[in-house]
Amino acid sequence: MSLENNKAFASVLTAGIILLASGFAATMLYHPQDLEENAFKIEVADSGAEVDAAAPAGPVIEPISALLASADIAAGEKGFKKCSACHSIESGGANKIGPALWGVVDRTRASVDGFSYSDVLNGMNSETWDYEALNEFLAKPKAYAPGTKMGFAGLKKVDQRADLIAYLRQQSDSPAALPE
Ligand code: HEC
Repeated sequence: MSLENNKAFASVLTAGIILLASGFAATMLYHPQDLEENAFKIEVADSGAEVDAAAPAGPVIEPISALLASADIAAGEKGFKKCSACHSIESGGANKIGPALWGVVDRTRASVDGFSYSDVLNGMNSETWDYEALNEFLAKPKAYAPGTKMGFAGLKKVDQRADLIAYLRQQSDSPAALPE
């Protein structure tokens, strides 16, 4: 190898070392961290505010019946915190912004005394809140009952709905049978 070639090689090597070292220094200075979540994630509000375009007309709502037997009731109880601003759940609980929910599974829809329901819910009064009806309503109240007064965007995750509905089932004088 000629001297010239050696020089060229050495300068390339030096450049490489400088690049590496400065990259390392930058890392030391800026402490980049791996993002745990997508920084641009957009959450759809799921409590309080009236959100009309809660989610795009998405896939069919997944059923929960098969999940109920193994649902996490403690998680469902925690999930109910999203509802408790508007609903009581205890036996003999009062109506709040929404009707009292004690015994709501298999209860006739829009049937709580003294609560003034929307026309759309009153119109469903010939049916009961069975598991899958609750599932679909809670997934996206305004899609299931257009014009409902329930200002809640919905629970997108099927597990969340299953856990919550399993919890609701227990808040009753005589819990409904689990689906076969
Ligand atoms: C911002 C207040 C609000 C929140 C939050 C809310 N609801 Fe409601 N809910 C209402 C209102 C108001 C109605 C009556 C709707 C109507 O008449 O259209 C209602 C109705 C219902 C009904 C029908 C009851 C019946 O007697 O027919 C069920 C079931 C229900 N809500 C469950 C829930 C659950 C479970 C949650 C939490 C995941 C929740 N709601 C969150 C206000 C709310």
